[in-house]
Amino acid sequence: MSFGQPKDGVRYGSYLRVPELLKTQAPLTNEHDELQFIIIHQVYELWFRLVLHELDAVMVLLSEGGGRVCDENIREAARLMRRVICIQGVLLHQIAVMETMRPVDFLRFREYLKPASGFQSAQFREVEFLAGNKSQALLDHCDADDESKRRLQKRFEGPTLRERYLQCATSRGFASNLADPGTELFTKTVFSLVELYRNPPADASMMDLSEAFMDFDEGLGLWRSRHFWMVERVIGGKIGTGYAATGEGFEGIRYLSQTLNKKAFPELWEVRTRLTL
Ligand code: HEM
Repeated sequence: MSFGQPKDGVRYGSYLRVPELLKTQAPLTNEHDELQFIIIHQVYELWFRLVLHELDAVMVLLSEGGGRVCDENIREAARLMRRVICIQGVLLHQIAVMETMRPVDFLRFREYLKPASGFQSAQFREVEFLAGNKSQALLDHCDADDESKRRLQKRFEGPTLRERYLQCATSRGFASNLADPGTELFTKTVFSLVELYRNPPADASMMDLSEAFMDFDEGLGLWRSRHFWMVERVIGGKIGTGYAATGEGFEGIRYLSQTLNKKAFPELWEVRTRLTL
């Protein structure tokens, strides 16, 4: 018998804890659309959990060995990134379910949600921080349970995917340094990556991984954008329910519009501009 398997065999419901799962939706009103609102958010949190699980595995793969990161690890990291990218596709399309809710349907229970907001999703922030977009202000504004705050703090202090990617590139002969866009060091890194992009077959594994991170970063941006349009269509210019956390003057879609251009892998975007034949 394998580890953890009950004597009388596994059952679908007990293995997946379906009864417990179905008890975790607790609407605050009798409004019809509140159940879909809760379920969509819960499903997001489950997917975020899996995304973090995969990204953590990618971090390990890219840091193993100390010296040159081997082809096998890079290929496996790219494979796991493709899973993350597929999940991002699901997350994007899920917004359409939310859009079947008419503005008036949301208004019927919106008041009861204050001051809760997706802004307080600690796992979303973990993904952002792990990717490379850390922010002391967002860490300070984290309004979650103690365990989630502790995890987010760890992400804030820990290494990022962007750092691992650049270390991996260096180990493969593309001299790369972590530096702010606009600095000389940043431009140097971009030009070393231009060499990779100019001749993809020279290091096909590294090229594949680079494009996987590109897809991932674009996926984050597409989600931000899709969420932004959905929010405007549902609440227009109204102040968001999390206005207390986002700060006066940055509430609702005004806050969201400032996040649309965030990039976790700025070097990979800049390569496109600098690339020549
Ligand atoms: C009717 C549906 C929704 C509305 C009206 C809405 C509205 C908003 C607003 C106005 C903000 C900005 C912060 C604030 O002022 O509260 C925000 C942030 C956010 N929402 Fe939503 N949202 C909705 C659905 C969702 C869903 C389904 C998710 C999935 C988890 C989500 C995740 C987030 C996240 C992660 C942020 C923070 C974004 C950032 O800081 O970059 N929202 N939302």
